[in-house]
Amino acid sequence: MDLDRLAALLTPEGAEALTAAADVATDDPLSAASALRARSIPPELAASALTQAVLRRKAEAKFGADARAMFFTRAGLEQATRAEVATRRAARLAASGARTVADLGCGVGADAIAFARAGLRVRAVDADPVTAAVAAANVTALGLADRVSVAAADARDVALDDVDAVFCDPARRTAAGRRVFDPNAYSPPWDFVVGLAGRVPRTVLKLAPGIDHDLVPPGAEAEWVSVRGEVVEAAFWCGPLAAVPRRATLLRDGEAHELTGSGQESAPVGPVRRYVYDPDGAVVRAHLVAEFAATVGGTLADPTIAYVYADAATATPYARCLEIIDTLPFSVKRLRSALHARGVGRITITKRGSAVDVERLRRDLRLTGDAELTVVLTRVAGAQTALLCVPA
Ligand SMILES: C[S@@+](CC[C@H](N)C(=O)[O-])C[C@H]1O[C@@H](n2cnc3c(N)ncnc32)[C@H](O)[C@@H]1O
Repeated sequence: MDLDRLAALLTPEGAEALTAAADVATDDPLSAASALRARSIPPELAASALTQAVLRRKAEAKFGADARAMFFTRAGLEQATRAEVATRRAARLAASGARTVADLGCGVGADAIAFARAGLRVRAVDADPVTAAVAAANVTALGLADRVSVAAADARDVALDDVDAVFCDPARRTAAGRRVFDPNAYSPPWDFVVGLAGRVPRTVLKLAPGIDHDLVPPGAEAEWVSVRGEVVEAAFWCGPLAAVPRRATLLRDGEAHELTGSGQESAPVGPVRRYVYDPDGAVVRAHLVAEFAATVGGTLADPTIAYVYADAATATPYARCLEIIDTLPFSVKRLRSALHARGVGRITITKRGSAVDVERLRRDLRLTGDAELTVVLTRVAGAQTALLCVPA
């Protein structure tokens, strides 16, 4: 995508090409292109419209029906916040009393759109002119242009003295698209990003789920968010926005479940018990395993491993619960004979605290049979252990 191609898509002919492309986007690319040629759509416009149609379909997973009216770059879509996550964040920021927010590094505009829909006025900037133009097209397409201004600018040049809040979701990938894990390699860089809280007290930062707890600014809240069990982001809520030290927010089937705490507690340690709970990644990343264990009367079998054991199966949104039917010291031979004896042909393997190569183990087990089990590989009081489990 470049500015000329985007401009062409925004004309009445572009809109017709996009409608036609949406009809044929599931066909193979050659026949889709010839279907558009048959409608006398110029080849370059047809190619841009087809690319958009494919991206729009992909984007429905993040944006639902809005995706059909929006514009995307491939990288912009990959980095965009899912609507359900952006909507919650925007509602929380609006509830804090903020009326205006600067969105520094707005990408294709997922967060800016959510802020505007929550009633905020948004000053959005992106350093990449094409991405900024895509964001501008999106707020217009969704009828939000009166509440969102979008400019192509470096976040470091944006005046912040007249906004109530700042949101920054720095780019965490190289120009070649590779992920960067070192916050100093973020763009804008970490020093600038973390310094925002000193300039505008209501600052929210969106970061990768693997961000180090040591980087949480003093007094800020760190939240980890998962969607249907996949941890999608961390967010630091600074200044008056911080409510608790740590929060895990689990979004699933239109419902949100939140677990909060200090992130400093240690769960009690005990033996393997009848049930094992595998906490959601957001709970583990937020260091809230002890808080979760307390909700099910659970204990750990190793102080450094996030499996929680209990005598009862308690319904919980925060973890998957399995019933343990056998506990073995781990060895391929012992595991193979235990599984063969039970006629187990299919296993799901989950592990924490085990360096076992799962694919190689599967091959080495040479399973045959109809029964199915989950094998949990972990450490119990320092010893490598296999737990044979069924759903609780
Ligand atoms: C992770 S994306 C933002 C995604 C956005 N929150 C969304 O949900 O659509 C980060 C964006 O920051 C932009 N960016 C990188 N460095 C920047 C800078 N110094 N100033 C402004 N924008 C920058 C990139 O072009 C990229 O679009």
